[in-house]
Amino acid sequence: MTTAELRAVPGVADDLSVWPASTTRLAHGGLAVGGVSLAEIAERFDTPAYVLDEGEVRGRCRRYRDAFPEAHVLYAAKAFLSRAVVRWVDEEGLGLDVCSAGELELAVTAGFPPERMVLHGNAKPPHDIEAALRLGVGRIVIDSPSEIARLAAAVGPGGHQKVMVRVVPGVSAGGHEKIRTGTDDQKFGLSPVDGSAQEAIGRILGQPQLELVGLHCHIGSQIAEVEPYVAAVRRMVGLMARIRDGHRVTLRELDVGGGHGVAYRPGEAALDPTALARGLRTELVAACAAAGLPVPRLAIEPGRAIVGPAGVALYRVLAVKHTGARLFVAVDGGMSDNPRPALYGVRYAPRLIGRASAADSRTATVVGRHCEAGDVLAADVPLPADVRPGDLLAVPVAGAYQLSMASGYNLVGRPPVVSVHEGRARLLVWRETLDDLRSRDVGG
Ligand code: LLP
Repeated sequence: MTTAELRAVPGVADDLSVWPASTTRLAHGGLAVGGVSLAEIAERFDTPAYVLDEGEVRGRCRRYRDAFPEAHVLYAAKAFLSRAVVRWVDEEGLGLDVCSAGELELAVTAGFPPERMVLHGNAKPPHDIEAALRLGVGRIVIDSPSEIARLAAAVGPGGHQKVMVRVVPGVSAGGHEKIRTGTDDQKFGLSPVDGSAQEAIGRILGQPQLELVGLHCHIGSQIAEVEPYVAAVRRMVGLMARIRDGHRVTLRELDVGGGHGVAYRPGEAALDPTALARGLRTELVAACAAAGLPVPRLAIEPGRAIVGPAGVALYRVLAVKHTGARLFVAVDGGMSDNPRPALYGVRYAPRLIGRASAADSRTATVVGRHCEAGDVLAADVPLPADVRPGDLLAVPVAGAYQLSMASGYNLVGRPPVVSVHEGRARLLVWRETLDDLRSRDVGG
């Protein structure tokens, strides 16, 4: 957006619509989230830092529980997991979707009941399977034929494990090519079109210690419309009917995964859980009636939509540079704490906080401090023309797939996570220190 365009839209730079609901304006250009000033958090915990609004996370869990009272709602831990998040999700009555022994064991050691968890993975290492069985995970989602015999052997002849099969429903949806998983030109799931889903199901049914409770699909991520989910349900029920006819088995559960889109910038579309619930329920009831099947219990796995909009990233401006027509604003974080712009071209809406500026807006590019030119956090965003070193920038909708995908690039160390709630800030995860980094490096 150009400066002229920005001036033509009064208030656009001051739009808080994608911020947590608890966000309030303070004097002198400040913002508070969860009743805590962001500038104070930056002072107390230093920058870069990630802030997570506990009330927003809990509120989003409740919105899903209210919209889907009869379904299993599982939080997808890959979006972001910490022990506090485990506790909040547990207290709000959600289940948990995990995809590694790490996520599984962190959640179990934080007190989450393993029977309310589902384990995913297109390539589950033996150690992950061992942990899942030892801890008693509720369901394991089988994603490849080679997994079946291995899992059955690990369960043992006297054992018992509930499993689901991940199916590719042939529906393409998702905010970026790298996060579309509903068609069979990508690595996840088994296709009913070439028969590999049916074949896997036959083999699972031949393993007495594996109890096939239902089917799973996940069509992609950052999806803002209900229609692709409805189409996926229609196809999945069709497959359930063919399984009933072919194998005389009626499956009781249908997990349609996550992928619910959120707005990263004002004006972008988000998926409404209530509209999704209505669409899924209507299709499920109609398709099951047409196929003569009992309605299976629905499960959904939102990740981003629970934590994404609850997070805010805080950065300090370190350098400001005018090159040709461009204004580069370099901050103390970057692609090591948020690889998403580099990976998926995602656009964010950073904002100056902590001081009032009467300056006009300018189009700026917010870059990180890492050693490559692709380290861009937000290209072509409006910022006050007098932005300068020492300023604080806050980036909303930073709660999902940023820290969970953070790296050790340049040995910068990953930022801390601070929760805010009812006027109190609490450290959830400390900043990775040189000692943390050095302790792994045993020298050889
Ligand atoms: N269930 C399964 C089986 C999944 O693979 C995923 C995400 C989810 C649920 C949760 O999806 P969500 O509701 O959070 O969209 N790193 C990418 C997103 C990758 C999503 C991977 N699977 C990003 O930053 O956009």
